[in-house]
Amino acid sequence: SKKPVRVAVTGAAGQIGYALLFRIASGEMLGKDQPVILQLLEIPDEKAQNALKGVIMELEDCAFPLLAGIEAHSDPMTAFKDTDYALLVGARPRGPGMERADLLAANAQIFTVQGKALNAVASRNVRVLVVGNPANTNAYIAMKSAPDLPRKNFTAMLRLDHNRAASQIAAKTGKAVAGIEKLAVWGNHSPTMYADYRNATIDGQSVKDLINDEQWNREVFLPTVGKRGAAIIAARGLSSAASAANAAIDHMRDWALGTNGKWVTMGIPSNGEYGIPKDVMFGYPVTCEGGEYKIVEGIAIDEFSQECINKTLKELTDEQDGVKHLL
Ligand code: NAI
Repeated sequence: SKKPVRVAVTGAAGQIGYALLFRIASGEMLGKDQPVILQLLEIPDEKAQNALKGVIMELEDCAFPLLAGIEAHSDPMTAFKDTDYALLVGARPRGPGMERADLLAANAQIFTVQGKALNAVASRNVRVLVVGNPANTNAYIAMKSAPDLPRKNFTAMLRLDHNRAASQIAAKTGKAVAGIEKLAVWGNHSPTMYADYRNATIDGQSVKDLINDEQWNREVFLPTVGKRGAAIIAARGLSSAASAANAAIDHMRDWALGTNGKWVTMGIPSNGEYGIPKDVMFGYPVTCEGGEYKIVEGIAIDEFSQECINKTLKELTDEQDGVKHLL
């Protein structure tokens, strides 16, 4: 049988943590033959640590055959020791009266510390997924704080946007979501992201031709996907958690086990592809094979798409400029 791999999860006692850990432990992320050791990080606060103890008791009570160990931590320097995968979920939420700059600064502090800890103690090939918002900028900060690790191993979660877009397209066309190929989401995990179905097919047919309604694309589809997070908060009184955890599982599983040629979306550091400046943590369509992702190249960018990409890029470079002095 396989040797266990180490999976670190931060914010482990939070909502997403609760929807995520049981699925990792059951083998849904890394495969039904891959034992895992969970290294769980929460803030030192007594309430958070107690909540984490409760989650661990429940994980124990599932008696998962693949769960080879569980550790509780309050310090990233121990939580990330030798870790092969790190899911950075915990972040500072926006509190009442908090300005955007304060939010960026509070998270810059967290992700600088965690990036440095990964740099110091994680496996040299650790694969990092940042979920905590602002996810792209937090991933950028962690990457910049970990100069000894491969840049390409730092990623941000755009998969929820991708899955939301796929679901809207399936509903609009009346076809099954499983038939969708070649969907892309560009840019920031924020309402500025650009979900792009120009090349997509569903059951082999062009999505654009099937829908044949550019007004729907611009006035219904894009705002619906972009504002889906806010719609869920309005309905549930809490931010999306199960769907976010599901997207994190999809992102890591596809990265580790491959996509079989299928396009998926990952937030990854640019190397200049599609004119995005180097190092910007940008949502791109990728395929994955052998544990590596590869950007889908050669997609034609028309005028409207370029405008959308410029807008989401501008937001990201503004965020990144806003934290540069803190790095
Ligand atoms: P939550 O508030 O329920 O849980 C967050 C947990 O993180 C808390 O238990 C908190 O104690 C912990 N935490 C905070 N700072 C930490 C630190 N420095 N180290 C370790 N743990 C820390 O929040 P929830 O709903 O689980 O969401 C987590 C994050 O995910 C939020 O930032 C949210 O905005 C983001 N999110 C991102 C999505 C995406 O698509 N990228 C989608 C949905 C949520």
